[in-house]
Amino acid sequence: LNASFPLDPALRIAPVHRRTFGSFVEHMGRCVYTGIYEPDHPTADADGFRRDVLELTRELGVTTVRYPGGNFVSGYRWEDGVGPRASRPVRRDLAWHSLETNEVGLDEFMRWTRKAGVEPMMAVNLGTRGVQEALDLLEYANHPAGTHLSDQRVANGAAEPYGIRMWCLGNEMDGPWQVGHKTADEYGRLAAETARAMRMAQPDLELVACGSSGPEMATFGAWEATVLEHTYDQVDYISLHAYYEERDGDLASFLASGVEMDRFADSVISIADAVGARLRNRKRIMLSFDEWNVWYLSRHQAQQPRTDWPVAPRVIEDRYHLADAVVVGGLLISLLRHSDRVTAASQAQLVNVIAPIMTEPGGPAWRQTIFHPFARTAAAAAGQVLRVEPTCPTHETARYGEVPVIDAVATYDAEAATAAIFVVNRSTDSPVSLDVDTRGLAAERVTRCLTLSDTDVYAYNTARHPDRVAPRDNKDVRLDGGRLNIVLPPVSWSVIELA
Ligand code: AHR
Repeated sequence: LNASFPLDPALRIAPVHRRTFGSFVEHMGRCVYTGIYEPDHPTADADGFRRDVLELTRELGVTTVRYPGGNFVSGYRWEDGVGPRASRPVRRDLAWHSLETNEVGLDEFMRWTRKAGVEPMMAVNLGTRGVQEALDLLEYANHPAGTHLSDQRVANGAAEPYGIRMWCLGNEMDGPWQVGHKTADEYGRLAAETARAMRMAQPDLELVACGSSGPEMATFGAWEATVLEHTYDQVDYISLHAYYEERDGDLASFLASGVEMDRFADSVISIADAVGARLRNRKRIMLSFDEWNVWYLSRHQAQQPRTDWPVAPRVIEDRYHLADAVVVGGLLISLLRHSDRVTAASQAQLVNVIAPIMTEPGGPAWRQTIFHPFARTAAAAAGQVLRVEPTCPTHETARYGEVPVIDAVATYDAEAATAAIFVVNRSTDSPVSLDVDTRGLAAERVTRCLTLSDTDVYAYNTARHPDRVAPRDNKDVRLDGGRLNIVLPPVSWSVIELA
C-alpha cells in the first residue's frame, strides 16, 4: 500500500499544549497505595514515595496529574486526608468497594507532584458535597495564611500556598453509578454556583464542568447543552471521558478508535459553540479530555460486584499488548489534531489501574506497552501542530465504516527548526510505504525514527520481560531533497523526528 502527504507549515492548527500530556492518580485499587506510595519499598524516599515510579513518571513526560478521582471523589471528604496520620479515619469508598486509610491526602499528593515535576489538577466532590466544602478545600490549598484552614495547612507543614489553578467540578455526574448522581439541571446549577463562589475567592482559577462519561451515554449531547447553559459564564472547560477496547476480536475497528475520538471531540465542540451562540456569548469553551485510554471495561463489568472491603485491591490492572499501544498512539494523534480546542487531557490512570506504569508491591516497576507512544509523543511534540491530510487507501471496518489506512499528525517548531511526524498504520496485514513532502520545512535530516510494531500484535510486557514490546529504530526511512519515505509495518505506530 502507498500513502503520501505534504507537510505545510502554513497549515497550523494551534500550539502544542503541554497539558495534553496529563495523567490521572485516583484513590483506586493500587494507583496510590503500592503505586506512587509504598513506604516499605526498597526505593521509597523519606516521604514514602516509590523512587522507581517517580523516575518512570518523569520519563513518561507527564505534565499534569488529575487527583483524587474519579468516582472516588464523589464520596470523598478531603479533610480526612490532612493532619496527623494517627488521627486520620479509615473510611469506606463506595465507588470501588474498598477501604481508604487516608494515609495519603492532599499534602502528600502535593509533595509528590513537586517531586514528579507535574502540575496538579484537583477535583472537588459534588456528589455528596457542595459549595462550602469546595470553598474549604480551596482555602486550605490556595489561601496564603491567616485563616482557619490556611493556618491548618501551614501547621501541617506547607508554609506556602499550593496555588492550584485547575479544578474539576465533580466527576462523571451524569453516570448512574456515581455516588450523588444528578440530572443535568441539578448538576448544572450546583456546578455554576460552586464555580461562582470559588471565583469569588480566587478569580484566576481554571474550572472544568463535567461533560458526559462517554459518547455512548443516553444523555450525551443534551447533558453538555444543559450543563453549559447553566455554567457557560463560570467555567473554562467541559470534560470528555472515553475508553476504547477491542470487541469480539474486531482488530480493524479497534485500530480505528481514533475515528471515534475525533467524532466525540467534534460533537462536543459543536454543542459548546451552539450553546455559546444561543447565549450570544463569544467566549469559547475548551475541552478537557480528562479521562481517556484503552480499558477492557466489558471484562470489568462482567465481574461479580465485590462484597468485601479490602485496602488497595488489584482493580482493573489491564495488561496492555502491542495493538493497545498502537491505539493509544492513534488517540494521541487525535488529541493533538484537536489542539485548537482540546487544551488539556489526562490519560487514565498513571500506575497499576489501567496504567502505563505497573508495579509489584516490594518488587519492580515496569513500562507497559502503552507507556511508549505516550512518552515519545510527549517528548517529540513541540511548537505548532500541523494539519496533515494523507492520500491513502481506505478499508472497511465493522464499527466505523470506511476509514483511511493511516492516520497522522505533525508538529513543527520553526524556531528550533525541528519537526515530528506521528503516524499509525491501521492495516492488520499490509505494510504502507509513506511519502512525505518536507520541502516546506527548514529541516534536512531525520534525527530519530522509532516504530512500535511486533510480529505478535498481542505481545505484552511483564515484570520478567519488561522490554518485550518497545519502540525500535526504523531503518526503512530515507530523506532526500525534501522527500521522505518510510515503510510502516502493519499494526504500527511511528514517530519521525526531523531537524
Ligand atoms: O478511571 C477509572 C474510572 O473511570 C474513574 O474513576 C471514573 O471517573 C471513570 O468511570
